This record gives sequence, structure tokens and C-alpha cells, in this order.
Amino acid sequence: MPRLPRNEMSPRASRKVAWPALAEQISISWENIPTEYSIKDIGAPLLASLAEGLYTPEEVLREYVQNAIDSYADFRRTTGVEPANTVQILIVPRTGEVHIMDRGLGMDRDDVERAKAIAVSPKLQRPHDFIGFRGIGIWSGLSACDSLVLETTKRGVASRFRLTMDFKSIRDRLYDPIPIDDLLRGKIVIEAQPAEAEEHYTRVQLRNVERARYGALLDVGRMTRYVEQNLPVPLDPGWAYTQRIEEGLKDILWTAAYDLTINGEPVYRRFPGATEIKEPTFEVIAEGDQVFAHVWAAETARTGASKRIEADTAQGEVTNFALRIKNFTVGDRGNYSRHPDVLDVENLSWFVGEIYVVDPDIKPDTNRRSIQRSFRSDRFIELLRHFYSNTATRSRGWSAEVNAVAASNTAQSTLREIEALLDQADEANSETVHRQVAELLRGLEREREIIRAALEKITAQDTGDESLRVRAERRYLRKARVKVALEAASGQIVALLNRISTSWPQFATPTEEGTQRPKKQRRSSRARTATSGGRPVSTETALGTQAVAGDQSRPGEGGAARAPASILELAIAAFYAALAAVVGEESEAYRQVEERLPAELRRRGIEV
Ligand SMILES: Nc1ncnc2c1ncn2[C@@H]1O[C@H](COP(=O)(O)OP(=O)(O)OP(=O)(O)O)[C@@H](O)[C@H]1O
Ligand SMILES: [Mg+2]
Repeated sequence: MPRLPRNEMSPRASRKVAWPALAEQISISWENIPTEYSIKDIGAPLLASLAEGLYTPEEVLREYVQNAIDSYADFRRTTGVEPANTVQILIVPRTGEVHIMDRGLGMDRDDVERAKAIAVSPKLQRPHDFIGFRGIGIWSGLSACDSLVLETTKRGVASRFRLTMDFKSIRDRLYDPIPIDDLLRGKIVIEAQPAEAEEHYTRVQLRNVERARYGALLDVGRMTRYVEQNLPVPLDPGWAYTQRIEEGLKDILWTAAYDLTINGEPVYRRFPGATEIKEPTFEVIAEGDQVFAHVWAAETARTGASKRIEADTAQGEVTNFALRIKNFTVGDRGNYSRHPDVLDVENLSWFVGEIYVVDPDIKPDTNRRSIQRSFRSDRFIELLRHFYSNTATRSRGWSAEVNAVAASNTAQSTLREIEALLDQADEANSETVHRQVAELLRGLEREREIIRAALEKITAQDTGDESLRVRAERRYLRKARVKVALEAASGQIVALLNRISTSWPQFATPTEEGTQRPKKQRRSSRARTATSGGRPVSTETALGTQAVAGDQSRPGEGGAARAPASILELAIAAFYAALAAVVGEESEAYRQVEERLPAELRRRGIEV
């Protein structure tokens, strides 16, 4: 390839532009040009950035409910009287209308004038009293409907006002290159008429809902589902734990509920019933003395193969956790849990609960899908993730508990079966009984292993360095009822094994004499005939005493005196039993191992 001359290789590199010298370096003074900032400097599209398409249909409804609820706070504060706290929503699909009504303080002329403002909120001065603070929620319907009609009258004011916002006309010119006051001129109308001074209410009507994009606003079922889980409605009065949770939350900031109806039907927060979940417990997300949030959490009560809570979603039941700020949710359930730091995140569906943020500096973002970033909220999110891990790993504990209790129960019922067999054993049926007992004990090996491992975790030394999962397992296994079940089962296993070993002669396999068994029958496997002091030791005894209880065989006690099997003999017997269980006693592999093992042992200087 021919090489280009240097200056043709890169036209940009060859073009050198000199910057003017810094103004400070030239000693000429600056002349001041007067300027003012006016509404003409704010272009119409700013409104688009603030409100257009920012909200989902559900979020639009939420903004107006939020205002209704704030008006109750205002009423309470102004009058000192406990208000009605009711919010009525009316959805009329036929006419495409949605109404949101409250009996809060209402608005006088000044209030209405201010209500139409953009990003001006009287609530900003009292962040502890109100949910709103941005002064833009009223604009959330801009994309959702053709017009908003707000009718209001304030307690003590003998006038009623009507504010009409012509959203459709505003939308039509939203991207015109005009100042915002030109855009809005004539599109916002305020009217007045006389009213009873004592009357107080506000009714917002969203008219002609834009069906293509915001049709969901007219879907009563969908809005009900949303309101149930995201707005501050009461707990279902028919739910088993309503009283307990109300009691637990009653002194906690921002947990108040409001009676809300949709087309006359009350809407409640619904959760799975008492057959699905255990009684809720309360905790805090805190750092030192600083409490960020209060939480109630209920754990699955399921004990089957799948322990995730079966929520009846058609009835509005949910699982996982809602993050609530001022009792309105922020984002979806399990918000902030999808993160590499959160362990066992899938198992959050074994829990249901709510997280109530009580730190006033933790604020939601405009559409309430996440938390506004700050150092403080970043720290809270970290702690929140730790809470999720801590909770989700409890599922390990619950699994361990369920398995341990099930193993104890299975073991105990099998042991009862064995006891019954032993009780009816005599000379005539001893061989059959022995076979059955051996079979039952073999069937019990899995349970014995679970019990042994669980008991080991119960007695393990805590160092403080354990993982959350290990800690959860130990905590659950150390519950009194679990411990009792495990110890009872383990004790009974030991007792039974002792009973078998002390009354061994009765159940000695025919191989002991080597005579009763017809030649054509295959000889009993080594797994069953390891000997100890010349007497056969059943593998089950060996495994049982070693695995579950340590060597508990007490020679000389009860029936025939016998020496305990050496550890080596027990180990060989156990090895054969395990081999038999894995490859089968009849298999070629078993036969070959049987042939080779003595030589392998001898090579290591072990004579058996
Ligand atoms: N239902 C209502 N009852 C009484 N006043 C209301 C009602 N709805 C709106 N207002 C008044 O209108 C103002 C503007 O409402 P808007 O929702 O836009 O802002 P905000 O609630 O102050 O803040 P945010 O944008 O965070 O919701 C409110 O501050 C309030 O004074
Ligand atoms: Mg608002």
C-alpha cells in the first residue's frame, strides 16, 4: 500500500486552531448588560419534561389520591378535629371519566390559584405533614385525559370554586417553540359560585380519558388491584393477622390508612391466609440509634417440597415486601432486592411483609419507582439489601427445620414399626423379622443422616464468622420444639439399636452357623456379616451407633455378652453397606471390590 504524505494521512491532525488568550490576561474592563429572567424564558416543552408521559395510568390515579389524603392532614392540623378520612373513586368506563373525591379541608380562592401553579407547593414547608412536595402532581393527568375539572370548597368559606384545565389543547401545542405562558393562556379557567360555609370537599374529575394509552385508568379491576397494594388503604378486616399488624404499627409514623372505595366497593390490602403464612413479626432497619424503617414480616408456613407462599393473586394477595414511604409504595415489591449482594433473592417469595420508611430524609423520586439518591438513602438501600438477605436466607433455616422435624417423625414411626416387629419375634420367625428389621433400618438411613447433621449444627460452636445461611440454619434448628424432636428421635434410635444388639442372638443371621442356609442360596453379604469378637455385627448397628449416637453398644448388658466391634471392623461393614446401597450386592462391581479389598488393606498393613 503506498504511504500517504504525512499531512494527508489525517486531515484533523494537520488543522491546528489557536485559542484566543484568556480574557483575564487582557486588561480591558467588562461592561454590564442588564438582564431579567421572566416566564418568557421558560419554553412550553418544559411542561412536557415535567408531566408528559411520565406517569403510568396507576400513577396518575395515585397522584390525585395523594392530594386527597394530604387534604385530610391539612384538615386535622387546621381544625384539630379528626376528619372523615374517606376517599371515593368513581370510574365510569362508558363516559371515560374518573373522579377522585375527598372530604378534606378543601380550597379557597388563593389555594386554587396556587393549585394551578407548576412546581409550586405550599406543602414543601411542612414535609412531615404531607406526602406531596413537588407541586406537579396535579399535572399528572396531562397525557391521560382531555381535561381536568377540580371542584372544591373550603370549610368556613361560602364559595365553591371550579378549576378547569384544558389538557387536550395544552397537549396539542406542547412542543411549539413558544413560552410557557403563551401555551397556558386561556387553557386554565377558574370560576366561583356561592356555597354553604360549612361545606368542605374536593372533587377531581378526569374527563375523556385517553383510551389508547391510558385506558387502564378506566379498568375497575386493574385499578382496584393497584390501589390494594400501593395506596394507604386498610388491611382486609377479614384477614387473620389484621389486628396484630394494626397493633404493631399503631405508634409508627406514616402508617395511617384511609377508607377508600372504588365505585362504592371498599378496597383493602390483602395477604395470604393463616394456612399459608405464620404470624407476622416486627423488626427495624436501623444503624445504631438511627431507625430508617419499621418492618412487619410473615414467613411461609408451607412444609412441602415447594415452600413458596401460594398467594391467591386473583384475590389481590401478594408475597414479598412492599417498600412504603408515607404509606404509599415505592416501586414494585422487593424493590432493590435484585442485586448481587442479596442472597437467596428467589426465596423472598417465602415471605410477605411491608417496610415502612420513617426517616423523613428518604424521599421517593417523582414517579415513585425508586428512592431519590443521597448519601443517606444510599446507606438505607445498603441496609435494606442486608435486610433482604437476612430474611431470604431464613428460608434455609425453615428448610432445615422442616427437614429435621420430618426426619424425626419418619424415624420415630419407623422405629415404632421395628419395635412392634421385635415384640412379636420368636424362634420360628426370627429370620424373617431380622430381614424386615434390617430392611426398615436401611430405609431409615437418610433420616438418620439428617438427624445426625442437624444435631451437629445444634451443638456447633458459634464463632460469629458464620455465613447468614449457616446462622439461619442453626437458629431454626435450635428452636426448642425442633431440638426436642431431634433428640427424642436420636434417643429412640440409640435405644432401639441397643435393644437389637443386646438381643442379637434371636436375630442372628443363619450365616452365623453357616449350616441352615441351603447351598444354592447366595451367602449373606459381608455388609451384614462383619464380625466382632467372633460375633456378627449388623451393618445397621454399626452405622446407627456410629452415625447417630457414637458407639453406644454396651457389651455384657442384656442378652448375650459381646465385645464391641473395632472401629475398623465397623468401618468395613459400613463401607460394604454403602457399596451395596449404591451398586447392589448382586453386582459385578460389588463382587470385584469384595475380592480386592482384603489385598488393598493388606498392602496398607491392615490384617482383617
Ligand atoms: N384534593 C385536594 N384538596 C386540597 N388541596 C388540593 C387537592 N388537590 C390539590 N390540591 C392543592 O393543589 C396543590 C398542587 O397539587 P400537586 O399535586 O400538583 O402538588 P403537591 O401535592 O403540592 O406536590 P406533588 O407534586 O409532590 O404532589 C397542592 O399543593 C394543594 O394545595
Ligand atoms: Mg400532590
